[in-house]
Order: sequence, then structure tokens, then C-alpha cells
Amino acid sequence: MIDQATKIALAAGVILREKLEAGVSIEHKGRIDLVTDADRAAEAFIVQELRKVFPSHGILGEEGARIEGTSDYLWVIDPVDGTTNFAHGFPYFSVSLGLVKGDEVVLGIVHNPMSQECFVAERGSGVFLNGQKLSVSKQTTLEASLLTTGFPYDIATTDETNLKSFELVNKVSQGVRCLGSAALDLCHVASGRLEGFWERSLQPWDIAAGSLIVTEAGGQVTRCNGGSFSPLGHEICATNGQIHQELLHLLAIKG
Ligand code: IPD
Ligand code: CA
Ligand code: CA
Repeated sequence: MIDQATKIALAAGVILREKLEAGVSIEHKGRIDLVTDADRAAEAFIVQELRKVFPSHGILGEEGARIEGTSDYLWVIDPVDGTTNFAHGFPYFSVSLGLVKGDEVVLGIVHNPMSQECFVAERGSGVFLNGQKLSVSKQTTLEASLLTTGFPYDIATTDETNLKSFELVNKVSQGVRCLGSAALDLCHVASGRLEGFWERSLQPWDIAAGSLIVTEAGGQVTRCNGGSFSPLGHEICATNGQIHQELLHLLAIKG
């Protein structure tokens, strides 16, 4: 399964690069929530290919794919995680494919077609970046940590802006970045380049694959209040494990 799904993610990446070179057409799903023809083309391609090789599996895709399977397996897919970056030509976006069975992610693939970095995790077998095994960083304090987060598309109107947490964590760490692809942010926690990532208003396709990539690298994932992580949920706090409690403590402080 892993090889076939990786091939599909890589081929979807080629579609995205080609579309970017040819010029993309942009539409608005919301004020700052964008979608492009490339998002739709890449999702259609991924669904078509997954159906060929895994006909019994279900599919849940950001751009509308809803296929009920006849087995316990469900692919949770984001054809472009980081659409705003993609639409601006900022080379930080990814194809994210997670395979969920029950309430567990069993396979996770996140591919950055611009840097050509492909992160692949299988439950119980570790995580690999272009074939090289990854593990999380060993930093033990927030003070020595670099993190990322993200903000909701309805930041202008919601009370859950994440700005208070951003301020608090920024003040005690080496910095909090906001890079624009939750799936890739999780991969950077897995690779040890970052110590942590949290975000509250997410969708399953943003986090399913990346959550397994973090845990297979030895990291920890929970909800932002410390509760059990669900791949079909809407939030994640992911760290190297060492700084998890310190980060959760700050995330609990409301603005
Ligand atoms: C978004 C990215 C971003 C996160 C947003 C997501 P999209 O996904 O993961 O980093 O901050 O909450 O919606 O819309 O580019 O697929
Ligand atoms: Ca996404
Ligand atoms: Ca997307």
C-alpha cells in the first residue's frame, strides 16, 4: 500500500508543479480561504488512482470527494495543503494522504513537490524522509524551542483567534513561525527541525497523515487541551514530547 500511495502523492506533486508553471486560476471559498483549479485537478487525480488500486477503501477529500468504502479503510486527503502559499507561488505546500482505520492512522504520506521532500510513515515502522529515518529533536525546554502555528480563516470574526497563545509562546520560546501548511509543519516536528506545532481550527485532511508522521518519529500528539488526539477531529498539539506539558500549560491560558 505504502509504495502505491507514495507514487500517487509524487504524481500529484508533478501536476501541482505543472499547474503552477502554467498559471493557476483562483477562486474564493471565503474571504481569505482560496481554492484553485490545481486543488481540484490534483484531488480528482488522487481519487481516480486510489480507486484503481484500493477499490474497497473509502475516501474523504477536502475538495469534495466523499466515497464510502466496503472495508474499514478511509483515505483522508488534502490535494494541496497550503493553498494560499500555492496561489502566491510561495513554495511551501504539500500533498497529504492519510489512511485511517477505525480511529487510528495507519499510513501517512506528505510530499512537498517544490523541495522534493516526501515524508512517509507506516504505523509501527517509523517515518522516513526520502528514505532516511527521522526522529524528533531532543530539546527539553520551550525556551530552547522553535515552533509553528496557524490561524483560522475566520480570524476576523471568531473569538478563537489563537493570537493569545501565539503571543505567550512567542515570548518564552526561540520563536513561533506561521508557515501555512499544517501537514508540512507536522513533518518538520518529526524531522527535529522544529520542536512543536499547534493549531485549533483544522480539518482531518490537514492533520491525519502528519499526526502519524510525528508519532512515528517519537513525538507526541494530543488535542490543544491535552485530550486524546483524533485524526477525524479539528485540532492538534504536536511536539517532540519533551516540551509537551510546558506548551499545553500555555495553551490553556485564554485571552
Ligand atoms: C490550511 C493550511 C494552513 C492552516 C489552515 C489550513 P489549506 O489548509 O494547513 O497551514 O493554517 O488552517 O486550512 O486550506 O491550505 O488546505
Ligand atoms: Ca489543508
Ligand atoms: Ca487544501
